[in-house]
This record gives sequence, C-alpha cells and structure tokens, in this order.
Amino acid sequence: MEDIIARRLKFGIPKDLPRYWNDNCPTKTYLFNAIAILAPGFERLLISSVIPFKETIADQKLKNQVLGFIGQESAHGSEFIRYNAILKNQGYDIKKLEKWNLKNFRWLAKKLSLKMHVSLSLGGEHLTAIISDLILRDKRFLQNAYPANAALWRWHSIEEIEHKAVVFDLYTSLGGGYIGRITGMWLITVVLLRLLIRNFLHMAHHDKQLTKFSFWKNTFKILWGKKGFARQLLVPYLKYYSPGFHPWRQDNHDLIVKWKQFFYQARTNEDMLHILQQE
Ligand SMILES: [Fe+2]
Ligand SMILES: [Fe+2]
Repeated sequence: MEDIIARRLKFGIPKDLPRYWNDNCPTKTYLFNAIAILAPGFERLLISSVIPFKETIADQKLKNQVLGFIGQESAHGSEFIRYNAILKNQGYDIKKLEKWNLKNFRWLAKKLSLKMHVSLSLGGEHLTAIISDLILRDKRFLQNAYPANAALWRWHSIEEIEHKAVVFDLYTSLGGGYIGRITGMWLITVVLLRLLIRNFLHMAHHDKQLTKFSFWKNTFKILWGKKGFARQLLVPYLKYYSPGFHPWRQDNHDLIVKWKQFFYQARTNEDMLHILQQE
C-alpha cells in the first residue's frame, strides 16, 4: 500500500477558454464538461461516505490512505468548481445542473445505510478509474485539447488511478459483501448516466447542436464506434461484477510509476503543468 498524496496545482484555465476546447469538437468537449459539471457534487458524496469511518479504521495504513483519498478528492472538487465557473461564463446554466446533481446525490445518501453509501462510492470509484485509464492510454481523447484543460484531466486521471482501491479496501474491512457491492454499482451507474446525459444535452441544446445530423453522427462514432469511448469501457465495467474483483486486478501501476517519475523531476507548478500538457 503506497501513500496517497494530494497534489494541489494551479491550472490557469482562462476565462476566455475556447467553447470547443477539446479538438474543436463539440462532442469531445461536452463529454469532458459533462463529467466536470457533476464532479464537485459527486466528490462530496464520495468524501461523505468515508468520513464516518475515518477515525475508527484499525489498520493504520488504510487509515492514512483514506485520509489521502479525502485530500485528493477535495482538491479535485475545488479545481472542478473553478472549471465550472468558466463553463458558466460560456452561457450554460451550471447552477441549475449542479442543483439537480446535488439533489440526486443527497437523496441517495439519505436513503442508504452507511455501508451501502460506501458501496455506492466504490462503484463510482471504479467508473472514474476505468475512465481515467482510458483517457491516459488512448491519447486521441485529449489530442489537440486546450493545454490547461488537458493538464487538469491528466492530473485528475492519475490521482483517480492512484487511489482507486482505497474505498474498496475500506468496504472489505467493514465486512461488505458481493450483493451490496453490485447493488451500489448498479445504483450509481443509473444515477451518473442520467446526470451525464442531462449535462451533455443541456450544452448541446444551448449551442444548437441537437438538430444537426453531423453532430449525432460524430457523437455516435466517438462513443460507440471502433475504439469508441463507451465501447472501450464496457469490458472493464463488467469486470466489476465478477465475485473475485479487486480494482488492482486491472493492473495499471505502470501509469502511476511513469507519472510519479515525472512528478518527482518537476520542481515547480510550471514544471508540473508543462509535463501534464505535453504528454
Ligand atoms: Fe476525483
Ligand atoms: Fe476518486
């Protein structure tokens, strides 16, 4: 078990960020923006699920990892709040979307037992981990992206992979079982998909893309075409439903080792950003 450290960086995404900052492509931009819009509320949901247990975890290493996890997720939340303020400037009704996201997350947290809330987070963590792995491995998804945004997404992906097993190990230490684990995954999948689609459609509607055939054709290709975003996630997603699943069974230590080496060499915020922008 390695230490998990929150790396607080300043990305400097400008107020006049190009609307289609990701490869001048509405679909690729909306895909990432839709995740960013729900991120602060979602990350709060994750943090609040582990807080009730953080003082009573017997294993000191796991306890440190949970604290590291809280640190990383709160740093992510702060960056996504800044990011979303820029999207708000672009004319999207971020306030309404965030309110809707929060309403859904609060409703869920209220209905579930503490252990089921952890299971829900566990499912969410698997989703973010497999998306992060895809973003880092398949470079097409951030190719020609605005450098500050590409840096932010890479930083987020690295930390998501780094802490991907923490909530799983906590859930196991609480005696959580298979049925609870897959119920949490099923629930969070339905909720996140609904919210992501709503965020995505809101932006497409605002930019008058919904009536363009080329937009839908491109969206289908990017999500479900050969090497499509959603298509590539299907198998890693389904692996979660295997009874013997553990997040590190998808062994992507290589990504963490590689990036940690880069981070070790970097001395300043600028060095770090430079590396994250170049990759
Ligand atoms: Fe995160
Ligand atoms: Fe996470």
